[in-house]
Amino acid sequence: MKTGGVAVVTGASTGIGRATAERLARDPGTELVLVARREELLRKLVAALPCPASHLAVDLTAADAPQRVLAHVEERHRRLDLLVNNAGAAWRGSFAETGYANVRRHMELNFDAVVRLTEALLPLLRRSAPSAIVNVASTAGRVARARSGSYSASKFALIGWTEALQLEEAAHGVHVGMVLPGFVPTEGFPSTELREKALTRLLLSSPEKVAEAIHQAGPGGRAERYVPRPYAIAAALRILSPALVRRVLGAGAASSLTTSTPDHR
Ligand SMILES: NC(=O)c1ccc[n+]([C@@H]2O[C@H](COP(=O)([O-])OP(=O)(O)OC[C@H]3O[C@@H](n4cnc5c(N)ncnc54)[C@H](OP(=O)(O)O)[C@@H]3O)[C@@H](O)[C@H]2O)c1
Repeated sequence: MKTGGVAVVTGASTGIGRATAERLARDPGTELVLVARREELLRKLVAALPCPASHLAVDLTAADAPQRVLAHVEERHRRLDLLVNNAGAAWRGSFAETGYANVRRHMELNFDAVVRLTEALLPLLRRSAPSAIVNVASTAGRVARARSGSYSASKFALIGWTEALQLEEAAHGVHVGMVLPGFVPTEGFPSTELREKALTRLLLSSPEKVAEAIHQAGPGGRAERYVPRPYAIAAALRILSPALVRRVLGAGAASSLTTSTPDHR
C-alpha cells in the first residue's frame, strides 16, 4: 500500500477527521490539507502535527467550497494523493417531527457536499494516480434505525454512489475505499446512552480505530472496512434475515418512545 503524499481530510477539526490527520501525519512524506469550518481548531491542529500541513476554513455545503479547496491544493501542492471525505453530521428525529427539511439538511452535507468536492478534485486525483478517495459512510448506511432516517438516507446514498465510483475509477488508478463506522463517541455523535452501561459500552469504538481503517483504505488499500469489524454481521443480517433485524430494531424503537433519546447535536 502506498503511504505519504498529499492528502485532503475534511471534517478535520474534531473526532474521526482529527484522528485521521494525526494518523496520516505519522507516515514519512505526508503533506496535509485540513478542511472544516472552525478555523481556530484547524490552526491548532496544523501547529501540533509532525508533518507539513495547511488548513482551509470552509463550509463544505457552500456553493464555492469545492473550487476553494481545489484552488488551495493546486496552489500549494499541484498534486493530490488522497481525498478523505469525512465531514458529516446527524440531527436525530422522526420523519413526522423533522420532515423533508431534515432529509435535505443531511443530503446537503453527507452526500451532495461529498459528491461536489469529489467532482472538483477528481481530475487532479487522476493526474496524480496512483491515488485514492476514502469516503466515510456509516453502518447506518446499511441498517436504518428509527429517528435516524434522514441520516441513513444520506449514508445509503453515499454508499451506492461510492460503490459505482470504485468500479469506474479503478481503471484510472484512483482507488476508492469506504469506511463504515458503528458507534464512535465524538462531539457530533456522543453515544450518551451507550456509554452509560458496561454491556453497551462494548459496542463503542474510537476515532483512532476508525482513523486506522481510513489509512488502510487509502491508495492501493482496502475497498471496504467496518469499524468495529463485527458490525459487518449486522449489515449481512439485514439482507439474510430482515425480519429478525426488524424485530430487534422495532423493540429498540418502542423503548426509545418511553425514554428520552438525546439528539446527536
Ligand atoms: N461517530 C460516529 O458514531 C459515527 C458513526 C458512523 C459514521 N460517522 C461519520 O464519521 C464522520 C465524522 O464524524 P465524527 O464522529 O468525527 O463527528 P464530529 O466529531 O462531529 O466531526 C464532524 C466534522 O465535520 C465537520 N463539519 C460538519 N459540518 C461541516 C460543514 N458544513 N462544512 C465543513 N465541515 C463540516 C466538523 O467541523 P466544523 O464543525 O469545524 O465544521 C467536524 O470536523 C461523519 O461523516 C459521520 O457521519 C460517525
